[in-house]
Amino acid sequence: MIDKDKTLPNKIWPFIWHFLRGYKSLTIFYFTLAAVAGFWGPLNSLLLKRVINLLPTVTDGDISILIVPATLIVVNYLVIYNLSWRGIERIQAKFTPVILNCIIGESMDHVLGKSAQFYQQTLSGKTLKEITNLAHLVDLLIRTGAYFPRYFSALLTATIASYFANPIFFFILVVWLILFSLLRIFMARKLRILTTSQGLSESMSVGELVDCLYNHNNIRIFSRRSFENSRMASYLEKVKKDYQATALYALRMYSIQGWLFTILIAFSCYFLVYLYSKNLVTIGDFALILGLTIDTGHTAWFAVKAADPLNRALSIGQQSLTSLMIPLEIHDKPDAVALKCNRGQITFDNVKFHYKETEPLFQNISIKIKASSKVGLVGYSGAGKSTFINLLLRLYDITKGAILIDGQDVRDVTQDSLHTNIAMIPQDPSLFNRSLMDNIRYGRIEATDEEVISAAKKAHAHEFIEKLSQGYDSLAGERGAQLSGGQRQRIAIARAILKNAPILILDEASSQLDSFTESLIQESLWELIQNKTTLVIAHRLSTLLNMDRILVFDQGVIVEDGTHTELLILNGLYRKLWDSQVGGI
Ligand SMILES: Nc1ncnc2c1ncn2[C@@H]1O[C@H](COP(=O)(O)OP(=O)(O)OP(=O)(O)O)[C@@H](O)[C@H]1O
Ligand SMILES: [Mg+2]
Repeated sequence: MIDKDKTLPNKIWPFIWHFLRGYKSLTIFYFTLAAVAGFWGPLNSLLLKRVINLLPTVTDGDISILIVPATLIVVNYLVIYNLSWRGIERIQAKFTPVILNCIIGESMDHVLGKSAQFYQQTLSGKTLKEITNLAHLVDLLIRTGAYFPRYFSALLTATIASYFANPIFFFILVVWLILFSLLRIFMARKLRILTTSQGLSESMSVGELVDCLYNHNNIRIFSRRSFENSRMASYLEKVKKDYQATALYALRMYSIQGWLFTILIAFSCYFLVYLYSKNLVTIGDFALILGLTIDTGHTAWFAVKAADPLNRALSIGQQSLTSLMIPLEIHDKPDAVALKCNRGQITFDNVKFHYKETEPLFQNISIKIKASSKVGLVGYSGAGKSTFINLLLRLYDITKGAILIDGQDVRDVTQDSLHTNIAMIPQDPSLFNRSLMDNIRYGRIEATDEEVISAAKKAHAHEFIEKLSQGYDSLAGERGAQLSGGQRQRIAIARAILKNAPILILDEASSQLDSFTESLIQESLWELIQNKTTLVIAHRLSTLLNMDRILVFDQGVIVEDGTHTELLILNGLYRKLWDSQVGGI
C-alpha cells in the first residue's frame, strides 16, 4: 500500500526502516532465527570434542557411550542449522517481493510528483536506475542480512567455548578479532567512497544509454551510430575505471585478510603443539580448538565478504536516494482545498516569472479572461505562450503576483483538483504504450466503451482507428510511436473531449493535421468549447477568426489584446503576422 501522506526519508537507514516498520515482529523473528543458526558450528565442535575424548574409552565394541553425542551431532545439524535456515529462506521467499513492491511503488509515486523542471533536467534512465538501485539494496539486505546475526552468534559461542577449553586461545581469538575488525573498519571507508563513485557513473551511463534509445531516430537520420558509440564509450570507460578501482582495492583488502588468517592459524597451531607436549590439552581439546580457530577465521572472513556487497549497495543506495529524494519543488499546501471551478474565469494579477537560472520572462503580467470566453494566444516562437499555460496549470510557481481561477489562487488549491478542471491538448502529445481505447479513456477512466468511441468520432479519430487491424485494441507504441503526429493529436483531442473539463487549452492542437481533417475537427471542437473557457495557441492565425479575443505575446509581454478585426486595424505585431501568412498563401 502506498502511503501518500508520508514523505520518504532521504537517509538510507530511515528509508529502509520506513518499509520494514510495518513488519516489526516478523523482522525480529527473522534475525533471531538467523542468530540461532549461528550456534551450529561451535556446538558441532564441542560435540566432536566429546566424541573424540570418548573414543579411547570404547572397549569390546561397546559403542553405547557414543550414542548420545553422535545423535546430538545429527540433531544439531537438523534443528539448529537445517530447520532454522529453511525457515529463514521461507520468510525471504514470501517477504522480499512484498517489500520490493512497496519500494518501487512508493519511489515511483514520489518521482511522479516531481515538477516539470525535474523531468527537463533529469534523464529518465538515470532515475530508473536509481529506483532499481534502492530495490536491489533492500533485496540484498533481506537475503544477506540473515548472515550477520548468524555470524555474530557463531563468533560469540566460539570465543566462549575457547575460553573454557583454554584461556590462552580465548585471548588469541579476541585479539585477532579486534585487529581484524579495526583493519576492516579502516579500509571500508575508502571502499565506500570508491563504490559511491562507481554507482554514480553507472547511473549516468544508463541515463545516457536510455537517452540514445529515445533518440534512435535522430541517430539514424544523421548517421551518428559511430559518433554515439564513441560518446558512450567515454561513459563506459569511467564505469570500467571505477569498477576496477573498487575491485582492486577489495582485492588488496582480501590479501591482507588472508595474511591475518594465516597468522591466526600459525599461532594456534604453535600453542596447541606446545601445550599438548606439556600435557596441558587433550586430543579432544586439540580438535576443538583447531576447529574453533578455523571456524572463527572463516566466519570473520565470510562476514566481511557478505558485508562488502551490502556496503557497496548501501553507498550506491544512499547516492541514489540523495538524488531521488530532493524535496518536491511544487507541493500542495497543508490546508489546500479542492478547486471549485464553476465558471472558469482566469486572472493573472501582476505575475512575475522566470525559469530557473534564466532572465525574467514575465514582468508584471496582468490579464483577466472572462468565464466561457474563447481566447487565442499568438506571437513569435519563444514569446511565452506555452509558459503562460504552464503557469496556469501550476507546472511552475511564479515569483510574484497571483494566478486565480474563479477567485481561487492556484497555489491554494490541490494540484489534482486544478488539473481535473483543465483539459489540455499539448503541442506534441505523447501516448502510453496501451490500447487506443485505454489511451482515450485516460481522459475519464470510468467512461464506457461507447463514450470512448463517441469521443473518438467527434475527434475524427474513429476513421483511422477502425482501419487498424486491431481497431481500438491496437497498441500505440512507446510514447505513441506507432501513430502519425496528426493521429496522436486526434487521440489527444478525443481524450480532452471525454474529459469535458470547464477550462480547455489547445496548444497548437491541430498543427499536424491536414487542412481537410483540421476543418472537420474545428467543427467538433467548436461544439466542445461552448460554455467553456478556452485558450487556443495557434501559429496558423486563420484558426482564430472566431475567437472572442486574441492576446499577442512578444518576449514575455502581452503587447496587443483584441478581436481579429480590432488587431488588424491596430496595425501592429498581429497585423504583421497576419500579412506574412496571407502573403505566404
Ligand atoms: N523549461 C524551461 N527552462 C528554461 N527556459 C525555458 C523553458 N521552457 C521555455 N523556456 C524559455 O522560455 C521562453 C518562452 O518559451 P515558451 O515555450 O513559452 O514559448 P512559446 O511562445 O510557447 O514558443 P513556441 O511557439 O515555439 O511554442 C523561451 O525563450 C524558452 O527558451
Ligand atoms: Mg509553445
